[in-house]
Amino acid sequence: MSTQSNQFQQMTGRKVLITGGLGFIGSNLVHRYLTLGAQVTVYDCLDTHSGGRLFNIEDVKDDITIRVNDILNFEKLCEEVRNQELIINCAASTSHAHSMKEPWFDQDVNSKGMINLLEAIRRFNPEARFLHLGTTTQLGPLQYQPADEKHPEFPTDIYSANKSVAEKYALIYTKAHNIDATILRVSNVFGPRASIHSPEFTFNNYFVGLALQNKKITVYGDGAQMRNVLFIDDVVNALSLIAQEPKSKGEVFLLAGDQHYSVLEIAQQTVEQIGSGEVANIPWPEERKRIDVGDAIISNKKIKSLINWQIEDNLQTGLIKTKEYYQSCLEKYLTL
Ligand SMILES: NC(=O)c1ccc[n+]([C@@H]2O[C@H](COP(=O)([O-])OP(=O)(O)OC[C@H]3O[C@@H](n4cnc5c(N)ncnc54)[C@H](O)[C@@H]3O)[C@@H](O)[C@H]2O)c1
Repeated sequence: MSTQSNQFQQMTGRKVLITGGLGFIGSNLVHRYLTLGAQVTVYDCLDTHSGGRLFNIEDVKDDITIRVNDILNFEKLCEEVRNQELIINCAASTSHAHSMKEPWFDQDVNSKGMINLLEAIRRFNPEARFLHLGTTTQLGPLQYQPADEKHPEFPTDIYSANKSVAEKYALIYTKAHNIDATILRVSNVFGPRASIHSPEFTFNNYFVGLALQNKKITVYGDGAQMRNVLFIDDVVNALSLIAQEPKSKGEVFLLAGDQHYSVLEIAQQTVEQIGSGEVANIPWPEERKRIDVGDAIISNKKIKSLINWQIEDNLQTGLIKTKEYYQSCLEKYLTL
């Protein structure tokens, strides 16, 4: 448990619904809220284009309620939001590349799915506390750095555009219907329970997967573009703290780490800490180059001014913990 654990409210017997709770961030939240004593329900359709897997909750499956269902199924969603005190939305189609190939699918899940959730909350549980995860890629190529919450949004891919729209829906529901929503725009999160088998998801987790299999990590171009990375435990700590902070209602926060690294440095550190693999630079594939955002230096000042959030892990310590996790269960993560 974190050194900040004395700040987390006990949730004994209180009901928490985590949509997308079989995925990377969602399943880590499931573990956190169980530790805090909550009654946790997971609502997830095990979408084949996202990172959800039952193994992520294998050790706690008897302690939670699991509903394998789609956020596009409005009736089922309405049943599940009832009586929940805290609802955290991690359900999303999470592949930038897939969103470019199947834009309607992405729009359905990431945009219409959000309307479904907000409307279900408005009709059947308007008092619930609601957190939604957005993405820092909503901003697109940065016009100034470090980017803060006032930075305009010009996303370069369909996933990020739909996440941007979803965020605006949540803000509209807060203003018009008094829904207690907070948005966290997340950057590149890494760590246990992430999908590491495919480049479709967060690049740094894919690097981890390659290194664990002693494979070559290929970095596009010179890999000099800067990225913010955040270890999953730090993300879960921030979400736990913001969920209990009433002043965050109707607010948008960038959730970023303290440190930035070049993509090449991240690849090299991954090989060093995992202890196997190698790094090679290759030319940019045209379709990736077109949606790349360049340097992404992100400020975490706003969230740190509201909650007493201390980032406990950096790239190196996070990678050491990540390796420890996958060593005992790597084969469970090599396919979806
Ligand atoms: N991991 C990151 O670095 C990162 C970065 C930026 C934003 N985010 C955001 O954080 C949230 C969680 O991301 P993650 O990394 O855990 O992704 P993930 O792919 O591991 O998990 C997403 C989960 O949503 C589920 N899902 C997809 N479509 C669904 C649907 N129609 N109905 C019900 N469930 C559905 C999937 O089955 C999966 O379990 C997402 O909103 C994502 O956009 C993550």
